Amino acid sequence: MGQRRFRLVAVLLLLLHRQGAEACSTIGCCFQSPPYPDADSGSASGPRDLSCYRVFSSAGYECSWEYEGPAAGVSHFLRCCLQSGRCCYFATGSATKLQFSDQDGISVLHNVTLWVESRAANRTEKSPNVTLSLYRSVKYDPPPGNIKVSKSAGKLHMEWETPARQDDAEVQFRHRTPGSPWTLGDCGRQDDSGFESCLCPLEMDMAQEFQLRRRRLGPGVPGGPWSSWSSPVCIPPEAPPQAGVKFSVEPLCPDGRRQVTLREQLPQLELPEGCLGPDSGMEVTYHVHLHMLSCPCQTKAKRTLRLKKKLVLSGAAYELAVISRNRFGLGPNQTWHIPACIHSEPGLLNISAGANGTTIHWPARAQGMRYCIEWQLQGQEKNLATCIVTAPQDPDAAGMATHSWSQESGALEQKACYRITIFASAHPEKPTSWSTVLSTYHFGGNASEAGSPQHVSVKKLGQDSVSVDWTPSLLSTCPGVLKEYIVYCQEEDSNQVSELHVKPTETRVTLQGLRAGTAYKVQVRADTAKWRGAWSQPLRFTIEVHVSELSDLSIFLASLGSFMSILLLGIFGYIGLNRAVRHLCPPLPTPGASTAIKFSGSQGKQVWQWTSPADFPEEVSPQEALMVNISWEKGVEADMGTLGTLKKMELPLRAPKPALDTELPLKDGSRCKAG
Ligand SMILES: *[C@@H]1O[C@H](CO)[C@@H](O)[C@H](O)[C@H]1NC(C)=O
Ligand SMILES: *[C@@H]1O[C@H](CO)[C@@H](O)[C@H](O)[C@H]1NC(C)=O
Ligand SMILES: *[C@@H]1O[C@H](CO)[C@@H](O)[C@H](O)[C@H]1NC(C)=O
Ligand SMILES: *[C@@H]1O[C@H](CO)[C@@H](O)[C@H](O)[C@H]1NC(C)=O
Ligand SMILES: *[C@@H]1O[C@H](CO)[C@@H](O)[C@H](O)[C@H]1NC(C)=O
Ligand SMILES: *[C@@H]1O[C@H](CO)[C@@H](O)[C@H](O)[C@H]1NC(C)=O
Ligand SMILES: *[C@@H]1O[C@H](CO)[C@@H](O)[C@H](O)[C@H]1NC(C)=O
Repeated sequence: MGQRRFRLVAVLLLLLHRQGAEACSTIGCCFQSPPYPDADSGSASGPRDLSCYRVFSSAGYECSWEYEGPAAGVSHFLRCCLQSGRCCYFATGSATKLQFSDQDGISVLHNVTLWVESRAANRTEKSPNVTLSLYRSVKYDPPPGNIKVSKSAGKLHMEWETPARQDDAEVQFRHRTPGSPWTLGDCGRQDDSGFESCLCPLEMDMAQEFQLRRRRLGPGVPGGPWSSWSSPVCIPPEAPPQAGVKFSVEPLCPDGRRQVTLREQLPQLELPEGCLGPDSGMEVTYHVHLHMLSCPCQTKAKRTLRLKKKLVLSGAAYELAVISRNRFGLGPNQTWHIPACIHSEPGLLNISAGANGTTIHWPARAQGMRYCIEWQLQGQEKNLATCIVTAPQDPDAAGMATHSWSQESGALEQKACYRITIFASAHPEKPTSWSTVLSTYHFGGNASEAGSPQHVSVKKLGQDSVSVDWTPSLLSTCPGVLKEYIVYCQEEDSNQVSELHVKPTETRVTLQGLRAGTAYKVQVRADTAKWRGAWSQPLRFTIEVHVSELSDLSIFLASLGSFMSILLLGIFGYIGLNRAVRHLCPPLPTPGASTAIKFSGSQGKQVWQWTSPADFPEEVSPQEALMVNISWEKGVEADMGTLGTLKKMELPLRAPKPALDTELPLKDGSRCKAG
């Protein structure tokens, strides 16, 4: 029974609908009274911001509005009254937007008045009226998605193509930073150049989201409706946050490579709501830019790599930069210098210099390797090193690779200390592929001649002892080159001789057991591991004994040839005997004896001497300098320590720099050895 009744109602409803279709087509505006009593509840909530317009891109029409208040159970009616006074309505249900065409009964060329009535329960709420000509109220499209952004003079410059046939537009932007509300800005009226643009503010250290909209500014017509907002344009801060990067450089491994480990902390950039997704344009990428500073003659010294945890590099000097890149290009970078690793192992390198030039041998790596030989005068590290990249013949039977320079090239021929480094690579076009074969110091030219100690001097210590001092050999500044000094002492009458071996760090030795009135000759030479050095000019001296209560001892010095500058230094004050050390000259040709010569640092540096005979008369009278008054008693022995009192006596003479310290610390040398 009930079912039949339902059908009847349904048919009736259908008939009713058909009947109304003449005036109220389902798609058109219904020219009837709305199905509720005309009343206005006058509540604070209700429909707002009605906007009706022609949609440019679809050639249709659209009205949209907001509804303020609880939207549940609310149905909306868009009301329209024509100039004729006839009125109609669209029932939109819960939608707050309606699209219609010029076929839907509303005159689009003439003014019409539109408003919205919203029904909630038995209440009716009405929006304010809008009167306009729909055809002339064009809603433009927002700027398209591909907005070009650039920085210019501290501002953002955005540019896009004007949508087709949508000229004469006015543009606005709104922008926000993370957690802040929108701020509205004006881009002004655009010309019809085919492009529209906007200058927007740039934030130094905050990300921004921008949206843009446009509207038609017809001649004599107040602004049409605004387009919707464009899709977000996401702008990273002008100064992107820097990656917190730390490096650690490990020692050089036996394969000539060392590991550089990066610990990076990539900054988290706070983003505005619309820019949270991927590809928003906020992306910052970080790279490592590597520049191998050593071996400047290689074909390609620079390389940019992804920021990764580990780099394996040779022992060369590198410059390492972490660079950031965002949509505007390269950001600021952080740069580090990785110093070269010099592990002085002279044994690996064999250099022979002859009439035909210089030949260098080194332990070969695998066949087909390219080598970069780099040489540079010590102390000129700021200048570019000289180098060659070479592919030597296959290694010889001893596994040594060879390279030769002609004498005309002048390579390695200066009498000076060179730092020589050899790198190897199977792919020399890749700056990351090099490894260190060796890195060492070499004294160029004829080291045995150049290394001969200059300015040897003898100083009386007691009635039977003198100290022999010499200025350090040129070789001593070249790490690992100077092996030892040999001091040769000869008693001229008896031809008894002794040779003392002295550590390369020392420049003084004490000779004892000398006999007064006897002529002695001393010479010093500096030996390298490979070459015997040349002897210094012989220095002759005698200790004279004066028979008086106070013995006047003078040490008579004579040096041969034109080399006259070696002078004895006067010693004023108490000088005792030296019992701590017994280096007797003559006897004792014990090579190991040198190890017993122990001077404290302060004593070793207490050297006074004239470096040129010309200084002599002006500085002090020869008499004073040569005559040494010493109170002594035979057999009295004084402690070696009293020599220390020498320090307090300032002679009015130019004191040369203290004895050089041959233990030149290798820069970062300790970090270069594996293990
Ligand atoms: C249409 O309405 C606008 C705004 O109310 C008014 O300025 C204009 O004169 C009207 N045009 C006509 C043809 O009535
Ligand atoms: C609306 O309904 C409420 C109760 O639902 C009633 O109290 C009120 O009088 C009604 N108002 C009108 C205008 O009908
Ligand atoms: C809106 O326009 C209609 C039709 O012209 C008119 O009846 C009504 O009073 C107007 N409402 C207001 C608030 O002006
Ligand atoms: C690092 O920044 C400095 C200064 O801006 C620049 O001169 C240098 O070229 C940059 N280095 C790299 C590798 O980009
Ligand atoms: C160094 O090279 C020369 C010439 O080839 C050779 O005679 C000498 O034995 C080599 N010395 C070492 C230690 O390899
Ligand atoms: C030096 O070169 C000349 C001519 O080039 C050659 O005859 C001579 O054998 C070479 N000497 C050495 C030691 O290599
Ligand atoms: C180096 O000089 C010394 C001393 O003058 C000389 O004996 C030696 O032959 C020279 N060596 C070379 C390779 O020229």
